[in-house]
Amino acid sequence: MRIIQITDTHFSPSKTHFNSNWQPLADWIGQENPDLVVHTGDLALDGAGTEDDLIFSMKLLSKLQVPVLGVPGNHDIGHMLDGAQPVNTERLERWRRLVGREEWVHDIGNWRLIGFNSLILGDNSDEEEAQFVWLEDALSTAEGRRIAIFAHKPLFVDEPGEGDTGYWSVRQAARQRMCDFLDKYEVALHASGHLHRAWAGNLNATKLVWAPAASFIVGPMERDMPGERIVGAVLHTLGDEVTSEIVEIAGMSPFLLDDVIDEVYPRAKPVVEETAA
Ligand SMILES: [Fe+2]
Ligand SMILES: [Fe+2]
Repeated sequence: MRIIQITDTHFSPSKTHFNSNWQPLADWIGQENPDLVVHTGDLALDGAGTEDDLIFSMKLLSKLQVPVLGVPGNHDIGHMLDGAQPVNTERLERWRRLVGREEWVHDIGNWRLIGFNSLILGDNSDEEEAQFVWLEDALSTAEGRRIAIFAHKPLFVDEPGEGDTGYWSVRQAARQRMCDFLDKYEVALHASGHLHRAWAGNLNATKLVWAPAASFIVGPMERDMPGERIVGAVLHTLGDEVTSEIVEIAGMSPFLLDDVIDEVYPRAKPVVEETAA
């Protein structure tokens, strides 16, 4: 089974900076003709602020001739419970109405694919706890299928034992719960976006993949991280083995966020920590 993972498209009908990467990406997806496309979030530039961006994004995705599943990113539904755009009922209901449920299970062949909302991991809310219960149920009922998880945020940036990385990954306690799940349920793949960096590695028996964004890369305005600053997508082949090919796609442009951040995210601080991936 072949799955194309795309991420961080950051589409908008009013701030059109990155929309031109869609046609070459869609053409490549058409050529590859996968069984499924999974979008790992930041579908829209500011879906957390205006539904126009989500409506526009879904019109673009609907042009694909293959099934598409998606999980939300921070630019789609907000981030955590504090900050300028917290995850809240209004934003979640907007996502559900225009895109679909933020958590899902999709069985295909002998694989169970699981998508969920990583933007509430570590916020110590009732919703986070309920999602952990849901997630363990989804993992424990796979009945022999192999398991792949799709989420917006990576579990860690530099190493699994690191401290809190703030905006970029998952806080320690929630990260540990996730890592315990990966081991206990022998999860084969955890695939994410958010960092606008392309990287692949392993955590025990689980393959970890950060898909390259389909919009922009981030230059010196953010701290250095592992991974390549490229735009593109990932072709996952799920069989007895998992292969994940990170692909730079002809015709896509690696726009540099540093050049346009004041136009695109005028409220964002121009320096580190709380930027805009
Ligand atoms: Fe993000
Ligand atoms: Fe992003």
